[in-house]
Amino acid sequence: MARKKIIAGNWKMNMTPSEAVALIETLKPLVKNDDVDVVFCVPAIDIIPAIEAAKGTNINIGAENLYFEEKGAFTGEISPNMLVDAGVKYVIIGHSERREYFAETNETVNKKVLKAFEHDLTPIICCGESLTQREQGITIDWIRQQIKIAFLNVTADQAKKAVIAYEPIWAIGTGKVATTEQAQEVCKAIRDCIAEIYDEATAAEIRIQYGGSVSAASAPELFAQADIDGGLVGGASLKPDFGKIVNYNK
Ligand code: PGA
Repeated sequence: MARKKIIAGNWKMNMTPSEAVALIETLKPLVKNDDVDVVFCVPAIDIIPAIEAAKGTNINIGAENLYFEEKGAFTGEISPNMLVDAGVKYVIIGHSERREYFAETNETVNKKVLKAFEHDLTPIICCGESLTQREQGITIDWIRQQIKIAFLNVTADQAKKAVIAYEPIWAIGTGKVATTEQAQEVCKAIRDCIAEIYDEATAAEIRIQYGGSVSAASAPELFAQADIDGGLVGGASLKPDFGKIVNYNK
């Protein structure tokens, strides 16, 4: 069975609630494509107006983070229940910016992944190497470690529904997209790692995105690779160009 492509925008810390609504109004006619699951991951404060603005369209609204506790004294955090109640279906977990600036680790990523599944949220689990790690030749080892820890205690049935985003840190926001060969090589290594942890059937179902300076120009070749099932798109997801990325196959 062919995997359906999934293309997600990661808005990061951009767009006020009113700007979010305006952007969705602009993008909604441009991102129609039945071959693709389309997700906009937006800042927490934009979630409710974004869901309202996206009603009746093919746009799914996702969050950029969640906390791994149900509720309580965790000032500033957002619980999975809050996301589910608002109508969120997807949540980015462990983006490299969260790891770098907000001290997230493989272990907190794992806790968040388990919590997301407990609440039927689809995690978009991020992994990726730094430039130094790539130059040291340890990219695959590093990614395998990130994946193995992220999936600790995750069942095969849950894993099948997960989305993994491979995002080389040196390609994020730099305009320096990984070559198609580099992206495919790592996405294949991730799928092989999932097959090792679980089995071939699980590996065949899980969807793996590439992220890092994806543009309308680079998307068609990237998304045509055997193990790349779509993209996680930062900068270009805030522009009409996102419509072209979603329609990479038209
Ligand atoms: P970028 O960001 O497309 O702007 O490189 C991707 C991401 O960080 O998810």
